[in-house]
Amino acid sequence: AQPDLIAPSILSADFARLGEEVENVLNSGADIVHFDVMDNHYVPNLTIGPLVCEALRKHGIQAPIDVHLMVKPVDRIIPDFAQAGASYITFHPEASDHIDRTLQLIKSEGCKAGLVFNPATPLSHLDYVMDKVDMILLMSVNPGFGGQKFIPGTLDKLREARQRIDASGRDIRLEIDGGVKADNIREVKAAGADTFVAGSAIFGAGEDSDPNRYDSILKKM
Ligand code: DX5
Ligand code: ZN
Repeated sequence: AQPDLIAPSILSADFARLGEEVENVLNSGADIVHFDVMDNHYVPNLTIGPLVCEALRKHGIQAPIDVHLMVKPVDRIIPDFAQAGASYITFHPEASDHIDRTLQLIKSEGCKAGLVFNPATPLSHLDYVMDKVDMILLMSVNPGFGGQKFIPGTLDKLREARQRIDASGRDIRLEIDGGVKADNIREVKAAGADTFVAGSAIFGAGEDSDPNRYDSILKKM
């Protein structure tokens, strides 16, 4: 088993001071940077692209960057994110016409590859590609916005995903994204997650001037 990772979602960070926000959260104990890419087409919101990923690398951020693509089509943006310094690239099966090909493309660009499952998307998309997947990301909200409420049915789905990973014998991360807070993170971990995205719970906490403002969730593990 791999160690647990906390992945702050920069969607809820202050974009005007992004470098500083990411540095602070990593210094407070976060492990990887969750980078939400939205295109106003696959999801009804518009965020950031490869230029911002590259800017974080140029700023000196060395932690793994976990790029969550909520875009359609997905393939043509993948090489740009690999060039920009992405570590993981995950995508929604609904956004790719050729899931196996997209997974291979991500890996051929030197990144770790993952599939993302919306609350109503079945895990059967994994059936023939487990050998190509390094991460499984379960959405516990519908994608598009931070600050939504955790959908409880995701706990059963986490248990099912954990069984699939254990049966595969491969080192595959099981990531959970949406509505994760200090008061449910232990339950989510018990259901099998090992990688925890949190946006509003981390960047919405406390006053900017408080150096310990991220502790409530980062120290819960
Ligand atoms: C939603 C994004 C999430 C979002 C999570 O589409 O994928 O990463 O930032 O935000 P919280 O933790 O506030 O639910
Ligand atoms: Zn995300």
